[in-house]
Amino acid sequence: VSLRPYNTFGLEVKARLFARFQSVEELRGLLSLAEVQQAEKLVLGGGSNLLFTQDFAGVVLKNEIMGLEITAQDEATDTALVRAGAGESWHGMVEYALGQGLSGIENLSLIPGTVGAAPLQNIGAYGAELKDTFDHLEAVEISTGQLRTFSYEQCGFGYRESVFKGPLRNQFIVTGVVLRLRRRHQLNTSYGAIGTTLADMGIETAPTPQDVSEAVMRIRRSKLPDPAQIGNAGSFFKNPELSQAKYDALKAQYPGLPGYPVPGGVKVPAAWLIEQCGWKGRRFGAHGVHDQQALVLVNHGGAQGAAIRDLAHEIIASVREKFGVELHPEVNIL
Ligand code: EPU
Repeated sequence: VSLRPYNTFGLEVKARLFARFQSVEELRGLLSLAEVQQAEKLVLGGGSNLLFTQDFAGVVLKNEIMGLEITAQDEATDTALVRAGAGESWHGMVEYALGQGLSGIENLSLIPGTVGAAPLQNIGAYGAELKDTFDHLEAVEISTGQLRTFSYEQCGFGYRESVFKGPLRNQFIVTGVVLRLRRRHQLNTSYGAIGTTLADMGIETAPTPQDVSEAVMRIRRSKLPDPAQIGNAGSFFKNPELSQAKYDALKAQYPGLPGYPVPGGVKVPAAWLIEQCGWKGRRFGAHGVHDQQALVLVNHGGAQGAAIRDLAHEIIASVREKFGVELHPEVNIL
């Protein structure tokens, strides 16, 4: 089966086996098959955070569990619980919430991928992260087929991290996610670009969650390539966290170095480091570095995943050489 339609890098790779499931029962049925039990398994949502460097010899399980609903209202806190099937598109959940007059995830508008993939890497953008509204999730244990609930604490969220990328990697398949959203909105417009964009939109006072969502969509469309046009998986690397001492030393040498304080140090934009090394907009035949955002690697059409991986390694080496900073991929490389 060609996986081309199932990865946003648009890479032409094949899977030996491919199956889709639309319910927990169907998933359990698949997991009980000897052929599936013996094979390496890859659960696909939107395929928006993956780089295939070769064909996949195992079984791809495509999560198509749908459903969006409000499961509870809490008058005291003026919040509601919204539940989504893991196969729903993430942006679809954002739109559903806005349509129900609920806020909390408008800053995460237009992030590619599915609801089920969102907690795995605690998706984040423009001053918000999934964990800020997360209530709990449901997941099927691959070895037993049992459905388990994971609370906020049990998910171990960090910057683009969760237990499902760490100690519980490849052990659970997320089937549903429940968020706690607000009826009385409290907008987060701390990310500089949002304020600027709202002003450009002529909205100076009292923006609504819908306005913030539109501002975020404008920003994303202006910087991030649309995977339907240019293959990509968003940010290819995480933004590194430096100790205060390391940051101060680099800042003395490179006064333009941006930085954001985080507990234990300073986070710096990998895009800045990569741009300073001269990579922004570079093209090598079918693949390269996006010209509007140096953190994004792109497939201009017909690229090989292995070539994109090799480019990533060259970028890591050049940033290490120039700044003594180690970049780590954010995308899963297979
Ligand atoms: N910058 C450059 N050159 C560039 C782009 C950015 O120097 O080509 C510098 C600028 O100083 C800019 C700063 O980097 O102010 C931050 O840029 P931007 O706001 O575009 O965000 P980012 O740090 O590059 C992160 C996330 C994105 C998320 C944006 C907005 C990571 C790995 N990436 O990127 O997430 O959309 O912030 O919040 O944390 C993703 O994870 O796939 C993703 C797209």
